[in-house]
Amino acid sequence: MTNLANGNTALAARDLRHVWHPCTQMHDHDPTGSGSVPMLPIVRGDGAWLVDANGKRYLDGISSWWTNLFGHANPRIAAALAEQARTLEHVIFAGFTHEPAIALAEELTRVTPPGLDRVFYADNGSAAIEVALKMSFHYWLNQGHGEKTRFIALTGSYHGETLGALSVSDVALYRKTYAPLLLTPFLAPSADTWQAEPGESPEQVAMRALAALRVLLEQHAHETCAVIVEPLVQCAGGMRMYHPAYLSGLRALCDEFAVHFIADEIAVGFGRTGTLFACEQAPAASGRGGGVSPDFMCLSKGLTGGFLPLSAVLTSEAIYQAFYAEYAAGKAFLHSHSYTGNPLACRVALETLAIFRDEPVLERNRHLAVHLGRRLEALRDHPHVADVRQTGMIAAVELVADKASRRPFPAEQRRGLRVYLHGLEHGVLLRPLGDVIYFMPPYVVSAAEIDLLVDTAIAGIERAVSH
Ligand SMILES: Cc1ncc(COP(=O)(O)O)c(C=O)c1O
Repeated sequence: MTNLANGNTALAARDLRHVWHPCTQMHDHDPTGSGSVPMLPIVRGDGAWLVDANGKRYLDGISSWWTNLFGHANPRIAAALAEQARTLEHVIFAGFTHEPAIALAEELTRVTPPGLDRVFYADNGSAAIEVALKMSFHYWLNQGHGEKTRFIALTGSYHGETLGALSVSDVALYRKTYAPLLLTPFLAPSADTWQAEPGESPEQVAMRALAALRVLLEQHAHETCAVIVEPLVQCAGGMRMYHPAYLSGLRALCDEFAVHFIADEIAVGFGRTGTLFACEQAPAASGRGGGVSPDFMCLSKGLTGGFLPLSAVLTSEAIYQAFYAEYAAGKAFLHSHSYTGNPLACRVALETLAIFRDEPVLERNRHLAVHLGRRLEALRDHPHVADVRQTGMIAAVELVADKASRRPFPAEQRRGLRVYLHGLEHGVLLRPLGDVIYFMPPYVVSAAEIDLLVDTAIAGIERAVSH
């Protein structure tokens, strides 16, 4: 019992002696500091819950950085992983292949939008973005268009933190800090509905953003490889959401101006937005059918149900063929990672996709999403909540100092952090993005657990805005 009670302190102290954590001012964790943020050692996962070394349980409201789909330590996925680990853990993926990678490519080309028939593996989301950017550039180079060297990204976008991925992201602090190291994309306005003018509908915002993109393409398409977007939800940029008509318009503009469309579905893929992939929700121009096929689709996070790092870039046969030639032509794509196509990760991804096949995941999510939305309604009238928005299993609440003018709280007050600390105290993991409190739970969450998430967030918000 004594050991259990001291478990957190002992492990946290060992951690803080040597480990440097991501996206963290480590000083926040100084246990002697004022307003110290706990470093929480997790020893076990169980469905939507995480258990710390003192035995305290936390409901994972953010799917551990949006990776988990079917629960922590999911027994079905764990069994597949164990079996694969006893069979083949890894093999070089150049000149060699294996059944899990082959079967996963077959399955991914089957479930993604039409025309994405080629799969290139990498091992995390940022690496997938690097692959897509390089592949797009290299395609144009192989086609005799070496003058195409630029990319168009959207305001408020986030595509990862390696230098290429960061280059096409628009997170002010990161861009400012690393500016001398980065490529400079052209920034097109996001269709984010938060930016709507008074009386403007989400679809009208999308049309306005497309008109601005057209102007940019008219000037720069000749030197542009691709437009890269997060379909429907700009997640790290504050769970900013936009109308799916933007995606249809983007597809048409990319075709008209001969630039690629890169869909970064790393965070929104695998059912998060209500469909298996967000691109499926784009309305067809004719009003029939629907869905768009990008030229590149980047997948990661939920791809392995949150078990292992793996990413995939899907592209078309036509793009693949631009690299396919006699060796001497020097057209081969130049990119490799040691763990490309790791069999453990591929096997786990196959099991994750098998769960989508065997269970009514999207239908279950629809009910959960309705429940989540209904519970969040109560916050719409809150004097410090300027927006409550939702796309499928992603919902967000925007805290502000002043509702009418939407004036934010001064960033240094870290109001969102207060919500985080309140959540931990009450056994709920919420990790606001600044003052945006969001919900992105694993799909195995129950309605009662959603109630707990929302009730804790509401109490946390009251505390966070109270002084
Ligand atoms: C849309 C999007 N793209 C890319 C990434 C980068 O993925 P990773 O953290 O695996 O490098 C993220 C991570 O949050 C993301 O949300």
